[in-house]
Amino acid sequence: MPETIDGVTLIDHPLIKHKLTIMRKKETPSSIFRNLLREISLLMGYEVTRDLPLQNIEIETPMATMSAPKLVGRKMCIFSILRAGEGLAQGLLDLIPSARVGHVGLYRDPKNLQAVEYYFKAPPHLSERFCLVVDPMLATGNSAIAALDRIKKAGATNITFLCLLAVPEGLKAMKKAHPDVHIYTTAIDEKLNEKSYIIPGLGDAGDRIFGTI
Ligand code: URA
Repeated sequence: MPETIDGVTLIDHPLIKHKLTIMRKKETPSSIFRNLLREISLLMGYEVTRDLPLQNIEIETPMATMSAPKLVGRKMCIFSILRAGEGLAQGLLDLIPSARVGHVGLYRDPKNLQAVEYYFKAPPHLSERFCLVVDPMLATGNSAIAALDRIKKAGATNITFLCLLAVPEGLKAMKKAHPDVHIYTTAIDEKLNEKSYIIPGLGDAGDRIFGTI
């Protein structure tokens, strides 16, 4: 079982660690980077959904009648923070095909590094849904905090945040702004550089996913 400290769960399974190492390497091409991110999202999805409620229903196998577990309760919404969030969202959607998908578009103002919204679209009845907000990189936390502010404003109350890499600064900022949001990550890196990139990190996740370097 992954360890949870102060609302942050570190999913450090050996398969994830190995895949993440390949993703970090600067020579890894976009096609492989994307596939690995998708594979990691499936492994993370397995942990994030561990506590989803089940209810037994009566079914018939070819051999007998039995009482078997089925997912019940809150329907899920996967929120992708554009554009890098798409890399995690697609795999999660394969794992949970009945989930609805929301999008939050934010860009970082280069002058003050604050998040500015340019797009928002969400499914109805957010207050009844388990919302999984995804962005591979939790750096300053500004984009994630602004995205969560917006998603809560739209009605969501039950929110989990999932990222691939985080740094202590980003985790601290998130915990301060949204203490109710559980965070899942696969690694906590050392620090941010002067341009707010994660060190050692993996570079710009969006550029690496979409080959826009
Ligand atoms: N966003 C990225 O894509 N990479 C970083 O290192 C920080 C923020």
